[in-house]
This record gives sequence, C-alpha cells and structure tokens, in this order.
Amino acid sequence: MKRNVMILAAGKSKRMKSKTGKFLHPVLGKPIIRYVVEMSELLGSEKTVVIVNNESEPVKQALRDKELVYALQDPQLGTGHAVMCGVDQLEGGSTLILLGDAPCIREESLLDLFEAHEKAEADLTVLSVNHSNPFNYGRILREGERVIGIREHRDCTPEELLISEINSGVFLLNTDRLKEYLPKLSNDNAQGEYYITDLLELMSADGLKVRAHLISDETELIGINNRSQLWDVTQVMQRRINQKWLVEGVTMISPDTIFIDADVTLSPDVTIYPGTHLRGKTKVAEDVVLGPNAIVSDCTIGRGSTIENSTVKESTIGDYTNVGPYAYMRPGSVVGDHVKVGDFVELKNVTIGNHTKISHLSYVGDGEVGDNVNIGCGVVFVNYDGQRKHHTKVEDNAFIGCNANLVAPVSVGRGAYVAAGTTVTREVPADALAVGRVRQENKPGWAKGKNKAAKE
Ligand code: UD1
Ligand code: CA
Repeated sequence: MKRNVMILAAGKSKRMKSKTGKFLHPVLGKPIIRYVVEMSELLGSEKTVVIVNNESEPVKQALRDKELVYALQDPQLGTGHAVMCGVDQLEGGSTLILLGDAPCIREESLLDLFEAHEKAEADLTVLSVNHSNPFNYGRILREGERVIGIREHRDCTPEELLISEINSGVFLLNTDRLKEYLPKLSNDNAQGEYYITDLLELMSADGLKVRAHLISDETELIGINNRSQLWDVTQVMQRRINQKWLVEGVTMISPDTIFIDADVTLSPDVTIYPGTHLRGKTKVAEDVVLGPNAIVSDCTIGRGSTIENSTVKESTIGDYTNVGPYAYMRPGSVVGDHVKVGDFVELKNVTIGNHTKISHLSYVGDGEVGDNVNIGCGVVFVNYDGQRKHHTKVEDNAFIGCNANLVAPVSVGRGAYVAAGTTVTREVPADALAVGRVRQENKPGWAKGKNKAAKE
C-alpha cells in the first residue's frame, strides 16, 4: 500500500530555552529533525510532508538536500491542528505521522507497525509502550483489547494517571479516514488545543478499527522538549551506535566516554581509547588505534595508523602513519603511508609523501612535501606575508634542519639539505646545502673575565 509520512515540526520549542529551535539541535552530529526525515526515507515514503512554523527557514536549510513538501502551521493550535494544515497535500494509501522531536524510533518498530496495521486492516494504529515513568505522556485508554482513546497527562483523572501504557505520538492511519475525521476535532481540553490524540476516541466511538501497537523499548519514544531530554536521547543514540560497532569488531576502552557520529564508518579491529570523538563522515580502516582523546572530523584514516591525543579535521591519513600526541591537523592535509606527525606539529592544507617524518614542534602549511623527507624540530613554513598565503615545496629525500624557516613561495630540491637555523628565502637546488645564518665566532675566556668583573 502507498505510504505517506507527515512530520510534525511546527512547535516553538520554548522549553529548550535556546536561540536555536529544537529540531536543529544536534544529537551526535546530526540535527534531530534529520533523523526523523531519514526514517521516512528508509520506510519508502512516497510523499513526506513536514509541518513547520514561520521561523522554520533554518530547518528547511538543514534539509535542503531532501525531497520534502512543507506545510505552514501558523499559529500553532495543537498537534491535531498541525495535521489539518498539511493533510491536503496527501492522497490515498496510508499516512504515518511522526513527531519531529522524537528521533529514537527504530526502523524495525515502524515496519512492524505497518505490518500489524495492514494485517488487521485497521483504520488507525498508534504506537504505544508501557513506560516506567509515564509522567507528561498521553495515556492509552482501553476497554479490554479495544482502544477507546488517549488522555493527555493534564486531562487525566487520578485513576487514569496510573496507566503506564503511553502514546508515542506515532500514528498510522488510512489517509481517507484521517481526512474524514480531522474536521471533527475540538479544542475542549486543558490547553485549548486541537489534539491529534482525540482522533482515537472519535473513531473508536464510531466503531472503526482503532488499535495500539505495543513496543517494548521505551527509549525509542523519548521526545526532546528540553536539554535534559536532549541528553537522554544522546545517551540512547551513543549506546546504539557504540553497540553496533562493538558487534562489528571494534574494541572500545570505556565506551561511555566515546562519541561516534551517526554517519561514521569503522572497520574490524579498530581500537578506540577513552575521550575520543569521531565526527561527520569519518572513515576508519582496519587496525587503526584512536585516542585517548582523538578528535577526528570528516577524515579518512588508512589501515594500521594511530592518532593519539590529537585533533584532525577534514584530512586524509594513509596507512601505518602515526599522529600525535598533541598534533593538530587542519583541513586539507593529505598525509601518506608510514609518516610521522609528532608532538606539537600543526599541518594545514598540505600534502605529505610516504615515509616522511615531522617529529616535533613544526608548522607545515600550504605546501607539498615529498617522500622520505625529514623535517627537523621547530621548522616553520612561513606561508603568510600579512596579506596572502604562499606555497612551499620540499622534494623527495630532502632534509630540513631544526629551527629552519622556509619563507614561501620557495622550494627545496630533491635530496637537498637545509642547515639548522637557516632562513630559506631562495630556491635550494637539488642535492645542495643551504646555510643562511651568522657564522659562529668564539671569544676564548670571555665568560671567565665577565664573571670576575661581576664579583668585584
Ligand atoms: C505529545 C502527545 C502525547 C504524547 C507525546 C509523545 C498530543 C496532544 N500529545 O505530547 O500524547 O505522549 O507527544 O512525545 O499530541 N507540534 C506542532 N504543532 C503544534 C503542536 C505541536 O507541529 O501546534 C509538534 C511539535 O513541534 C512536536 C510534536 O508536534 O514535534 C509534539 O508536540 P509537543 O508539544 O512536544 O507534544 P507533547 O506535549 O510532547
Ligand atoms: Ca514532545
């Protein structure tokens, strides 16, 4: 049967106390709303309608790569009213209503919901759960097996408050029935809103098939209204993602301290130490060791490499390369195989060949470094003249001595040597030695004389 999805995201998220609407707050690197929209894609939704408010431009921006239809709800008169604002966009088949603030629902649960709904030829099926803390959720009212309504927390009698089966906010309906019953909703309740939940009572009273599909995992239903729930959801997602990779053969030391974004890909026999954050679309090959405290965003890391106590952004690292401790690789760094990027080394927008060593305390930016180059301690690629950035090239097998400055634009040829302390301002030809520093002069006995003068 044709499946449509409607996502309710027009609420003003006051309880977040934030300049940013709740749908854009990230959970492990991804805005909340994208989880819900991606779910509609997984389910094969023919048409997905997102209900938004008049401040939702940033939400649309965050979803600009998605094929969606938007409907405006202004003012916001409740969840039932939100559905009314978008229902004309839908035709035939069934309509799944999802809450834009509840990103934890699993695909399997929704597939089961579709199956149960279609098998029972139901008019409406609500996804429910027996919740350990039903506070603030709508309660499912039953008469035996029959579902006769949902009562919002604020409207419950003391007896109804004892019901633990709650409304997830996810509904699956026959689209024509939805259109038929929406106009019958009233706003006669504690909040003076049109509740979508009242559809159950109306339809059940008319003898239509109204069912509740009970799932067992209450964490799937957490809705984000405030930052505390944002944390709850983050913990749920973090656990799910980490558990998935553990099962796929990744070792994690203290997984609770490891944060892996939803779109990261790992390989078997990767080891991750505490305090590590893997962000964006990072891809990690086999036998890589990350952390402790590796922060890696949108990078590709080759087999057998290590990153310890370092930050690496938008860069590519080859195989068997060691980064850190305390290195900073900025965007655009492409590092080869068997390379060492040691302590207090900063790289930016630079290509580094295989077997090259940059062991300590260097800045290597805007350049190209060949294979098997040694960059000594304290080398600086002087790339900035105050106005523009310039390029430095160091060819294969060159040796750059400690504390050298390479003032760009400049190049050092194949196999050339740059003496320690040299400031290179002109091209160094292949196999040459460049020395550019004041010749040392020794004054014998000088210090002795000075010390004697000081004592007198
Ligand atoms: C809602 C349900 C409650 C359920 C809970 C599950 C109703 C009346 N209550 O309560 O039974 O247990 O979700 O999390 O449906 N929205 C709009 N327009 C509006 C109002 C809300 O688009 O006018 C959107 C919100 O942005 C949000 C969703 O609908 O994404 C749910 O609204 P919210 O106010 O969070 O409802 P709850 O109080 O959580
Ligand atoms: Ca909510």
